Amino acid sequence: MHDARMTAAPDAIAERLDTVRQRTLAILEPLDPEWITRSPDPIMSPPAWDMAHIAAYEELWLVTRLDQSAPLHPDLAATYDAFETPRAVRGDIRILDADESREYMRRTRERALDVLAGADISDDAPDLTRGGFVWDMVAQHEAQHDETLLQTLQLMPAGAYSPCAGALPAVDAPVANPDPVVIDGGPLMMGSDGAHGALDCERPCHPTEVASFLLDRHPVTIGRHLEFMADGGYADPRHWSEAGWAWRCEADITAPLHWQPDGEGGWQRTQFGCTEALDPAEILCHVSFFEAEAHARWAGGRLPTEPEWEMAARLAPESPVDAWAPWGDAVHDGRANVGQCSFRPSHAGAYPAGASASGCEQLLGDVWEWTSTPFDCYPGFRAFPYREYAEPFFGGGYQVLRGGSWATQPVAARATFRNWDLPERRQIFAGLRLAWDAS
Ligand code: AVJ
Ligand code: FE
Repeated sequence: MHDARMTAAPDAIAERLDTVRQRTLAILEPLDPEWITRSPDPIMSPPAWDMAHIAAYEELWLVTRLDQSAPLHPDLAATYDAFETPRAVRGDIRILDADESREYMRRTRERALDVLAGADISDDAPDLTRGGFVWDMVAQHEAQHDETLLQTLQLMPAGAYSPCAGALPAVDAPVANPDPVVIDGGPLMMGSDGAHGALDCERPCHPTEVASFLLDRHPVTIGRHLEFMADGGYADPRHWSEAGWAWRCEADITAPLHWQPDGEGGWQRTQFGCTEALDPAEILCHVSFFEAEAHARWAGGRLPTEPEWEMAARLAPESPVDAWAPWGDAVHDGRANVGQCSFRPSHAGAYPAGASASGCEQLLGDVWEWTSTPFDCYPGFRAFPYREYAEPFFGGGYQVLRGGSWATQPVAARATFRNWDLPERRQIFAGLRLAWDAS
């Protein structure tokens, strides 16, 4: 089946918006109503803030900007602006309740579809609407907030959120560390010319060179991280950067987020209201950049740079025109654990059909992969269509993450997509993949 993901027809655009909205509502369904307006942690927002923020962003870009009509809640514009109202205060101010937020989402969508019906998305249209750009930007924004909602929900206390997880593909035999893949160096046309809904920080497409290197076939598993722990990895400063060691001491970190001793000398995890034994074949998640760096150094390797990761994930790295995914333009089904239904990463080796041309597997989905590259703009960057998406974060101490997680939707998962976060963050669905210099 060929990819119809980014078809620029009003029906296809409306369907992409609807697919994401169905996920938003499905994610929130199992949440105890008590908790919709409460945040479990100051680094996250109350779910109702994300809901009405999703509506406010859609209203701004798909209704007010395109149609010059008035917003439904003009008095709340600052409340739902991410910069004017940071996460730490969103639990303490007046925000719309669950029903009001749902209604805001629903009414805004109706208005947005009306505007879409009369919009110019032709090749002659302005940058904002040509090819349906702004609608796909809004769909991606909602999908990103759905991932944020899942980060919030897994921090909820026991009983507040108990979703029903979907099944993952079975792996016949656990893959024992297969040989890494050799990636030949050469020219890389890094980034995107704007295809597949690329956002401003992925642009422009620009030439760079990557030296030959080795990259692991799969992301690091829980089993390997248990070996790191059993070997005293969290207690040995030689594996850690100076900043990483300071963080690990200050925050007293001895295991990934959500792990606790099982009372028998081992470890278990509690997440999404459920305590369970660790599965060594599952891909490791919920480690900070600092832990990822330390694990890689302990293993005798390092984190890949951002250009290395993209080189491995691109179907035709030297060409500016490329497929959306490492395996080509086919849809993700059966090729990657994305889509927010599994509530966990899969086993290493679960998606051989999703292998890249380079031979790496599970580059998209399962866990975001920390890279060693600090988040910055590409040469020739132009903020579009607004400054605040990425620009304020360039050079601000954020690390680049690549590939998307199980909690990413296909509309926001692609070979050029760039994510970023602070090096100490662990509530995001992030793990790592090992790289080595070619010698
Ligand atoms: C790209 C995931 C870092 O969640 O802060 C959401 C996405 N931007 N609303 C974030 C985003 C504006 C962003 N990340
Ligand atoms: Fe947002």
